[in-house]
Amino acid sequence: MLCLGIETSCDDTGVALVDGRRLLANRAASQADLHAVFGGVVPEIASREHYRLLAPLYQACLTDAGVSPSDVDVVAVARGPGLLGSLLTGVSFAKGLALGTGARLVGVDHLHAHVLAAALETEISYPAVAVLISGGHTNLYIMRSELELELVGRTLDDAAGEAFDKAAKALNLPYPGGAVMDRLAAYGQVDTAMFPRPYLDNQNLDFSFSGLKTAFALHIAAREGLATERLVEATELQSEEGARRVLGESFQEIADICASYGWSIADTLRIKTSRALERMGERPQAIILAGGVASNTTVRRLLKEEANARGLAFIAPSPMLCTDNAAMVAYAGSRLAEAGLCHDLTLEAVPRGRK
Ligand code: KG4
Ligand code: ZN
Repeated sequence: MLCLGIETSCDDTGVALVDGRRLLANRAASQADLHAVFGGVVPEIASREHYRLLAPLYQACLTDAGVSPSDVDVVAVARGPGLLGSLLTGVSFAKGLALGTGARLVGVDHLHAHVLAAALETEISYPAVAVLISGGHTNLYIMRSELELELVGRTLDDAAGEAFDKAAKALNLPYPGGAVMDRLAAYGQVDTAMFPRPYLDNQNLDFSFSGLKTAFALHIAAREGLATERLVEATELQSEEGARRVLGESFQEIADICASYGWSIADTLRIKTSRALERMGERPQAIILAGGVASNTTVRRLLKEEANARGLAFIAPSPMLCTDNAAMVAYAGSRLAEAGLCHDLTLEAVPRGRK
């Protein structure tokens, strides 16, 4: 079954083609540079960019895979959650394709697609606990199969990625700041007492990162002159020499802060994941990571240790499949289509998502 996937839920435009687990084409265009000057995604700009980019990316995918429009059996599109204007560009494009080619149309939950991303690369045994950590979500799921997800924990305020991005912004580091803080953390030492691990004194599996954000802001405020005076560009921090040059005397302290802050987030994720595993009625088989923050070195290390200690498989997608991409949408769409879960042309974008 040849399935075309379309992803336009936030600021990444993606089109991909899969046949089962085989990824035949995967085209993506990031708008990060356009939004970086604003320090966050500007919805109107994002929609316009998706609208401009979708057709050329679609054409490129067909060429990459050597197929024609009529070969496509299923058109899958991320229908939400996300920015409404952005989602509408993808959903409308998908409807046009389905209508024009006769392919079946499938609306895919963007979060479901994230947690299935790793399945494109690895055979996964269920039940499993999936940890979805992105710029917009921090969700814990118990998965009994690829199509059976139970949301057991979520963030009550900021998402893990947002916690990274806001901290980076406070240091005048470039947006999105998660990857930059991860890179700088490699030169730093973890001080486990520097920041709290938030929201652990309770019995639930939810997260709350706002207290950590406040602790971070207070820490920075007490260290005047720590943040760079101007907004740094990501390219300036690519190498250690570059980072040392730009951050000057603050280099080591910022690196230590990044290491400690990342550890607080990662260890909080590890602890709640471990609680979710404990609460599963049956024996879990795997811990699955998904979402942009799943690329984080410390998050990967701590959750891998947790999986190893319990004798479980540790499943994390390669970085390309962690962030928003159309390959995961195509894969999820093909699984839904196989199960007969298709839509007609009344398919709606769902910006807040559906459980
Ligand atoms: O999944 P994603 O691409 O988009 C959303 O659906 O939100 O995730 C983007 C988020 C951003 O907050 C970004 O800072 C974060 O993932 N991120 C990271 C890393 N790479 C991306 N956070 C921590 N460490 C990383 N290496
Ligand atoms: Zn996402």
